[in-house]
Amino acid sequence: MNMAVKENISVFKFQGIVNVFVIFCSYVFACRAQSYIFDDEKGLGREFDGIGGLSGGGATSRLLVNYPEPYRSQVLDYLFKPNFGASLHILKVEIGGDAQTTDGTEPSHMHYEDDENYFRGYEWWLMREAKKRNPNITLIGLPWAFPGWIGRGKNWPYDYPDITVYYVVSWIAGAKQYHDLDIDYVGIWNERSFDSKYIKVLRQTLDRVGLTSVRIIAADGDWGISKAMTVDPYLSNAVQVIGAHYPGTYTVADAVKTGKKLWSSEDYSTFNDDIGGGCWARILNQNYVNGLMTSTISWNLVASYYEDLPFGKDGLMTAQEPWSGNYLVESPIWITAHTTQFTQPGWSYLQTVGHLKHGGSYVALTDGLGNLTIVIETMTHDHSVCIRPPLPGFNVSAQNATFSLKGSFSTLTVLQVWYSKFDFKTRKPTYFKQLSPIKLSDGSFTLNLNVDEVYTLTTITTGKKGSYPKPPDSKPFPKKYLEDFNVRNPSFTEAPYFADQTGVFEYFINMSDPGDHVFTLRQVVTQRPVTWVADADQTISVIGDHSWQNMTVSCDIYIETANKGGVFVAGRVTKGGGEVRNTKGIFFWVFADGTYKVTNDLRGEIVLTEGLSGTRAGVWHTLTLRIEGTFASGMLNGYPLWMNVMLLGPSNGWAAIGTRAFEPAQYDNFYVEAN
Ligand SMILES: *[C@@H]1O[C@H](CO)[C@@H](O)[C@H](O)[C@H]1NC(C)=O
Ligand SMILES: *[C@@H]1O[C@H](CO)[C@@H](O)[C@H](O)[C@H]1NC(C)=O
Ligand SMILES: *[C@@H]1O[C@H](CO)[C@@H](O)[C@H](O)[C@H]1NC(C)=O
Ligand SMILES: *[C@@H]1O[C@H](CO)[C@@H](O)[C@H](O)[C@H]1NC(C)=O
Ligand SMILES: *[C@@H]1O[C@H](CO)[C@@H](O)[C@H](O)[C@H]1NC(C)=O
Ligand SMILES: *[C@@H]1O[C@H](CO)[C@@H](O)[C@H](O)[C@H]1NC(C)=O
Repeated sequence: MNMAVKENISVFKFQGIVNVFVIFCSYVFACRAQSYIFDDEKGLGREFDGIGGLSGGGATSRLLVNYPEPYRSQVLDYLFKPNFGASLHILKVEIGGDAQTTDGTEPSHMHYEDDENYFRGYEWWLMREAKKRNPNITLIGLPWAFPGWIGRGKNWPYDYPDITVYYVVSWIAGAKQYHDLDIDYVGIWNERSFDSKYIKVLRQTLDRVGLTSVRIIAADGDWGISKAMTVDPYLSNAVQVIGAHYPGTYTVADAVKTGKKLWSSEDYSTFNDDIGGGCWARILNQNYVNGLMTSTISWNLVASYYEDLPFGKDGLMTAQEPWSGNYLVESPIWITAHTTQFTQPGWSYLQTVGHLKHGGSYVALTDGLGNLTIVIETMTHDHSVCIRPPLPGFNVSAQNATFSLKGSFSTLTVLQVWYSKFDFKTRKPTYFKQLSPIKLSDGSFTLNLNVDEVYTLTTITTGKKGSYPKPPDSKPFPKKYLEDFNVRNPSFTEAPYFADQTGVFEYFINMSDPGDHVFTLRQVVTQRPVTWVADADQTISVIGDHSWQNMTVSCDIYIETANKGGVFVAGRVTKGGGEVRNTKGIFFWVFADGTYKVTNDLRGEIVLTEGLSGTRAGVWHTLTLRIEGTFASGMLNGYPLWMNVMLLGPSNGWAAIGTRAFEPAQYDNFYVEAN
């Protein structure tokens, strides 16, 4: 059986009613002209819930907040403004948990048990900006990690469900109280085990405190929870959406059996070139055609993190250079527009969706008021591979397809046409171009479809390809960079360009400081979080350009923990993200016990030199690390402490600051000069 027929039959299984005509045409009769029908006569398919982007999981919007205006607003317009660019229906954000969650850490609203602050990080700001542009945007929150106190000493958030629920519900209530944001959906624990008891307590608590409209998505991993839901009606009642990640466009029978909404609640994660755009075009259609998923959410929303961190540029667009203002509107933005600008959550899919005979797929949606939007994609295999899961082979070729409108659409006389083509031969792609409207005679039209194309045919006339003048040219991170942290009313809790990889570094004000260190940067995580990946045992924030080889890093530092405390500055730091534990670099440490150490690794095990420094807690010191070629030297308070230590590597990497353990410490007058 060929692939197309097999897929059609699997759709048949899930959906009950399918485009029988296609099966006859491809299987029974040897039809020459392929015909497809869009019909609402026998009722509609599932309700559409929207297309979204995910900020976080983790720190993926880190650099966006530091863009100068007007570029920052332009990026936000490309993402969220209706009838402009991606015009997203959904914004999903990480509920920061102080731990590393892929490209950095995001701060928690409760670092400690007696702590509460709803102004940390940038997700609140991002949600407000999204709402400002589209008041109807759906908001979702999901934790990846939790501050250490949630686990009560264990790396596990479910042993005390009441505490974890209190923590998550506080975030939802805080969104309303401090930012007037209504959170529409909340998740459980990203890509980790779910716990039925926890989910039920979460549902009961939301209902008890009046947050009945907040729906629960579970479990943001595989489809596994659906089996548990089919045998546990209380669990089933608690969950409103089954969200799976990277489903490869297919669901499972148990998930369909629950009768719940099915979402691809995290998908894409692919380098945002034209193959990434092809991946996105294919899954946006086929997540419904093959798997009845009514929402697809891109990890990530915007690639706004240092490209040398894991999964560089795996966002709908790229904004990773706040120092230059340069950003790139990549093809996934326009692929998104093909669906988002011509549908809304609350519309319904038609039952007549499916695969084209010679490859590709078509979906149709309606608002139930006479509007119709059809999206057709003909992505070839090699030009639409996503990062995961593996994509089985299939063939797509040029084809003529005739579409007939039946039921309430039979009287439509004209459809607007929007068109994209990835042209891997000429390398001259077309993105989201408006073509002449199609005039319908007897309710049908024929398209001469080629490969790697997307068509939207719609009654909606408000589509627009928004644009801004070209942003500034790309530039590397400045070779000389000074940060004195003297910001009286910072817009964000983190200092520009610092990308925390373990721990959280925040602006700090010490009003009782007598002199130069009233405004500092402070590491504030004092206990190992309930982690999502293997955070380091030290804290670290990186900055600069990963290609830097020779550099001087200088910083005033303040150890707060007597006896055991310690702080470092570093250069040539190689790794962040989930691999941060194993990062190499040149680390210059001073400790509260009056010693210093120079190591090749963040773990502090590969010691290059060590000795006495006279450093102690509660006193400001200045560290200077100079790295050139195969040698490094260090100064303390302007005097040489160690000289010309020979280096075996690494050859390049970021600058960084950090602490010996999860302990508070402060930094001031950070300066880096690369050459
Ligand atoms: C929000 O939704 C309402 C109701 O569906 C609609 O009338 C309105 O135009 C929408 N607003 C925007 C900005 O999309
Ligand atoms: C389609 O939607 C528009 C609003 O976007 C509405 O004015 C119109 O009546 C709807 N129906 C048709 C058949 O166009
Ligand atoms: C695709 O086409 C090639 C050449 O006709 C054929 O060998 C191959 O089996 C086809 N692959 C699939 C998955 O149908
Ligand atoms: C589609 O139809 C046109 C005539 O309208 C024909 O020239 C072309 O070869 C057909 N394409 C395919 C792939 O059958
Ligand atoms: C604030 O400054 C005072 C005066 O120098 C000092 O004693 C205190 O330890 C500082 N507090 C913190 C948290 O750094
Ligand atoms: C770094 O310094 C070494 C030794 O001075 C030199 O050979 C090398 O070219 C420098 N690297 C860069 C990128 O300037």
